Amino acid sequence: MNSAVAFDIYGTLIDTQAVLTRLGELVGDKAPAVSQLWRQKQLEYSFRRGLMGDYCDFSVCTRQALLFACQQHQVAISTAAVEQAMLAYAELAAFSDVPAGLAVLQQQGIPLYAFSNGSRAAVQLLLDRAEIAQYFAAVVSVEDVQSFKPDPKVYAHLAHACGLPASQVRLVSSNPFDILGAAHAGLRTAWLRRDPQAIFDPWEVQPELTLENFSDVTSLLTPAQ
Ligand code: LAC
Repeated sequence: MNSAVAFDIYGTLIDTQAVLTRLGELVGDKAPAVSQLWRQKQLEYSFRRGLMGDYCDFSVCTRQALLFACQQHQVAISTAAVEQAMLAYAELAAFSDVPAGLAVLQQQGIPLYAFSNGSRAAVQLLLDRAEIAQYFAAVVSVEDVQSFKPDPKVYAHLAHACGLPASQVRLVSSNPFDILGAAHAGLRTAWLRRDPQAIFDPWEVQPELTLENFSDVTSLLTPAQ
């Protein structure tokens, strides 16, 4: 049994697909390519800033990554359009399977945590708007330790915020780098494979559990897990 379960936010609980739709309205048919590079660069910038010890709000990584992706794909984007794209990022909905899965875990008395690179204020707003905030005991943000996933100290901070040893906290994330970071820091792991085409990095560590969809989170209730 897990003493606490933490969830990654973007791409795990919150569906970022709407950003692609908004980008389509703003930049036309290059939107899929821009969107893919945007997410890739957003994470790369957070990794780099974590390594450099140059923390900033995650939204700075997001904004700068969008500018890079547009330049790379030779898309002229106005300042107003950048603001609209950033706004789309702040107004995303939860995946449709999320509320029911969280409710089952909550009913079993498992403390649930939202754990993100995003600032606490940004994540709280997102969860409120997506109407899933009520399932969480707390939002744990990397801003408290001024670094980014997968720095071991952000996972140690999560365990500390849960008031538990790392070995009693399980992270559910659709991001393989996040699962590897959590495992490296001694947490339990469950990879949510939202995209059936997604592959897990062929490192020496693999997820303890692979969930094919969010309803599978109920498998975390099995004592043997
Ligand atoms: C987060 C990103 C990594 O929510 O998805 O932390």
